[in-house]
Amino acid sequence: MFRVVVLGVSLKFEGRDIVSVKDFSRKEIDYILKIAQAVEPIAAKGSDMLKGKILATLFFEPSTRTRLSFEAAMHKLGGSAIGFAEAEIASVKKGENLADTVRVVENYADVIALRHPLEGAARLASEFSKVPIINGGSGAEEHPTQAILDLYTILKEKGKIDGLKIALVGDLRYGRTVHSLAYALSMYNIELCLVAPESLKMRREVLETIKETIPVTIRTSLEKVISQVDVLYITRIQKERFPEPAEYAKVKGSYKINLETLKKAKKNLIILHPLPRTDEISAEVDNTSHARYFQQVWNGTVVRMAILALILGAIK
Ligand code: NCD
Repeated sequence: MFRVVVLGVSLKFEGRDIVSVKDFSRKEIDYILKIAQAVEPIAAKGSDMLKGKILATLFFEPSTRTRLSFEAAMHKLGGSAIGFAEAEIASVKKGENLADTVRVVENYADVIALRHPLEGAARLASEFSKVPIINGGSGAEEHPTQAILDLYTILKEKGKIDGLKIALVGDLRYGRTVHSLAYALSMYNIELCLVAPESLKMRREVLETIKETIPVTIRTSLEKVISQVDVLYITRIQKERFPEPAEYAKVKGSYKINLETLKKAKKNLIILHPLPRTDEISAEVDNTSHARYFQQVWNGTVVRMAILALILGAIK
């Protein structure tokens, strides 16, 4: 029933890990977005597509949306979820390493969603695990499923991704969502504007890669950019990842979106944020036609339903 035909392409998702967004081609990402569109109607009703399947969420870092939306997605498809959201209560506290944790949990679950403070953690886990690993955030490195739900939101709200002018604003050094999103967007025909304080500019490895395929402009001020873009994706300054509190103090509050800054915006500009926000978007923006960050949360569940169904082979 859920076979979506993309002409001339045969894609395989069953059993695959999602460690980096770079592990996927544009065709594959487009396919996930198509499946998300197809499953969206059942997100409200529920289904038993994944009956008997178990997701384990191993979260070694704080999370609200990512973990809960993975669990909600699993429940909505008739499966169940187990796991921990606090490394403090897991055996890691007793000195168990990640490879062992994964080799234990694979006996209980059909798929593992992992969040870990170390870059490379999801890749390492995928090398040890017999069941697919989905990276729910690997330190400051990547957060691939967030990027796919960000793309889904753009597609849903704008009807397309190609042809748009998109700004990524805020902490582009320590923010993992913007790394995955930049890689993902570089597969589309878009123009990207990166806005960050000098000390938080986009990591070089990401910048070098994306510059190979899309035009990228780099700015420290948001002022001019805001009148030019179709999508503004703003992020929290990742306080917890700064080596020095004094360095954080220097950049805290660098960008603020409020009704005043939005006066110059295009009428149909949409504002996205992976959340949680701190002070970068004033509450007064929430009721404007630009705000889409709470819709993004809903889309997160839908996209994770699509991903779980594909990886567990319920949708081909
Ligand atoms: C983000 C994360 O954990 O990287 N949150 C999320 O998953 N939606 C963003 C953040 O913490 O700033």
